[in-house]
Amino acid sequence: MAGNATSQQIDEFISLFDSPLDAVKTIAAHVRSSRRELSQKGTQNTRDTPVIVSMEHVSRSYKVGKQSIMALNDVSLSINEGEIVAITGASGSGKSTLLQMIGCLDKPTQGQIMIDGKDPSRLSDGKLSELRQKTIGFVFQSFYLQPFLKLDQNVSVPAMFARTPIRDIDLAVTSLLEQVGINEYRQHFPKELSGGQIQRAAIARALINQPKIILADEPTGNLDSTNGNAIIELFKKIRSDFGTTVIIVTHDEHIAQQADRIIVLKDGAIL
Ligand SMILES: Nc1ncnc2c1ncn2[C@@H]1O[C@H](COP(=O)(O)OP(=O)(O)O)[C@@H](O)[C@H]1O
Ligand SMILES: [Mg+2]
Repeated sequence: MAGNATSQQIDEFISLFDSPLDAVKTIAAHVRSSRRELSQKGTQNTRDTPVIVSMEHVSRSYKVGKQSIMALNDVSLSINEGEIVAITGASGSGKSTLLQMIGCLDKPTQGQIMIDGKDPSRLSDGKLSELRQKTIGFVFQSFYLQPFLKLDQNVSVPAMFARTPIRDIDLAVTSLLEQVGINEYRQHFPKELSGGQIQRAAIARALINQPKIILADEPTGNLDSTNGNAIIELFKKIRSDFGTTVIIVTHDEHIAQQADRIIVLKDGAIL
C-alpha cells in the first residue's frame, strides 16, 4: 500500500482481515521480514552491488582574484551501494569539495559524475533538487539543527520539503529517533542536548527521506572518542539495516580505519 493511500483503501485493506489487530500484525510481520532481507543485503560483499557514485576525471577550480585554485584535480573514483567509505587528507586537500560534488551542491569545472545512475549536469533544477532530497542525506556542519525547532520538528524538515504526508512523517520520526537512541528527548530543543545527541538527531534527519547515500562531513569532529565511536557504530547499523551507502569525511584515523575503504586526498588529488 502506498504511503498516501486513501482512508477508503485502508478500510478495504483492513476488511481483508478478521480484525484490525490482525491487519496490524500482518503488516508488522511484513516489515520485520523486509528488514531482515535488508540487513542481509547490508552485510553482503559490496563488490557485488551496483555502482552508486562514479566520478571520471573530475576537477573543480575556484577563481580567487586572478588566481585559480584547483580544489579537486582529476579525481576518478567509484563507490558501490552499501559501502562505507572514509575520505581523509590534510586541511585544504579538497575533502569538502569532493563531498559537495557527490551531493550535487556544486558542479565540476571538468569531468563527469554519475549519482544513482543519473548525470546531475543533465538534470533540470527541479529534478536535481529531487535527487538531492530523495537520494542523498546530508550530515554537514553547515546544516546542523535549527535552534528554534524541537528535535522531532528538526528531523521532520526534509520530509516536509519532500511533501510526505504528516502521518507518515510522525511514524518515521519516532522510528528514527528510537533507532538513534534519543526518542526520549524528542520534545527538547537542541541547546538542551549534548554534542553526541545533536549529532544523532542530525543523522536521524539525514535518514528521514530514506536516502540511498549518506554524506557526512567531519561528523565526529566535535566529539570525544567515545561519542565519535558511537556515531560510527550508528552508521554501520544504518548500512546493515537499510543497505545505505555512507561516505564520511574524517580527520580521525581510528574512525577512518573502521570504513570498508579509505580514500586519501592530497592537494585535490587521490593519493
Ligand atoms: N568557495 C571557495 N572559494 C575559493 N576557494 C575555495 C572555496 N572552497 C574551497 N576552496 C579552496 O579549495 C581547497 C579545498 O578546500 P576544501 O574542499 O574545503 O578542503 P578540506 O575540506 O579538505 O579542508 C582549499 O584550498 C580551499 O581554500
Ligand atoms: Mg572540509
